[in-house]
Amino acid sequence: MANNLLKGKKGVIFGALDEQSIAWKVAERCHEEGAQIVLTNAPVAMRFGKINELAEKIGAPVIPADATKNEDLEALFSQAQEHFGGGIDFVLHSIGMSLNVRKKKEYTDLNHEWMKTTFDISAISFHRIMQTLWKLDAMNEWGSIAALSYIAAQRVFPDYSEMAESKALLESFARSFGYHWGTRKKVRVNTISQSPTMTTAGSGVKGFMDFFNYADKMSPLGNATAEDCANYCVFLFSDLSRMITMQNLFHDGGFSSMGINPALMGDQSEG
Ligand SMILES: NC(=O)c1ccc[n+]([C@@H]2O[C@H](COP(=O)([O-])OP(=O)(O)OC[C@H]3O[C@@H](n4cnc5c(N)ncnc54)[C@H](O)[C@@H]3O)[C@@H](O)[C@H]2O)c1
Repeated sequence: MANNLLKGKKGVIFGALDEQSIAWKVAERCHEEGAQIVLTNAPVAMRFGKINELAEKIGAPVIPADATKNEDLEALFSQAQEHFGGGIDFVLHSIGMSLNVRKKKEYTDLNHEWMKTTFDISAISFHRIMQTLWKLDAMNEWGSIAALSYIAAQRVFPDYSEMAESKALLESFARSFGYHWGTRKKVRVNTISQSPTMTTAGSGVKGFMDFFNYADKMSPLGNATAEDCANYCVFLFSDLSRMITMQNLFHDGGFSSMGINPALMGDQSEG
């Protein structure tokens, strides 16, 4: 159901790889709500992803950019502003990748060079994006910047490995830069802590189906899907959320507030 919540707004969306990607669903929903979009992803993702299909569907240009490279980000935001004929109203960071997870290294035996690359791609890129937007003065007043996080930033999920620290750093950047953006331009910055979601990045985590099912049972509302997340992003990019900033917002069907759920007690319950 579309309500023109983003009519006249212009946004840059990072991270749509295929139709499973959270960013893909967000781009579709933002388009439905009347936004103009520029899509971007790492140059390598152009080759094995399907971003051009999405671009055609929603009439958005694709501007490749490696989110770990300042010069790529400068070119991206300059070209996006040219395309829009003005400033940017919203930006979604939907980027994550862990070399140690991909190469199946145990948490007690991580390669620290790879860890630095993981932090660079998954967290420092968020600061880099905000700093580039800042220097180009590319955001419109009352704009909205969001990134996707996961509850492993606060609690231990052993198989999530170094991505836990990436997400803790990501959430911290949202708070720290959120202060500067709020003061300078009334721009808000938040992270969305999303339920486990079936995507390329998600299913790369060892035992993903087990913790997907566990979270689904633990959460009174069940897991939030990528489509649910897209709706939440529309809200965060719309004028309905103007005073929400510097927050890590749990979008997880209630998972983060649960202690025990009888639905998961199984054989251990006496009753
Ligand atoms: N899937 C889940 O269970 C889940 C849960 C909570 C949060 N998240 C987060 O959601 C975000 C999106 O992930 P997803 O699950 O949609 O998976 P995805 O694999 O579809 O998206 C990850 C994206 O990151 C992009 N990327 C990787 N390196 C890049 C670089 N150097 N520059 C630019 N882009 C780069 C990839 O090309 C890809 O499009 C990530 O931050 C992820 O950690 C996912």
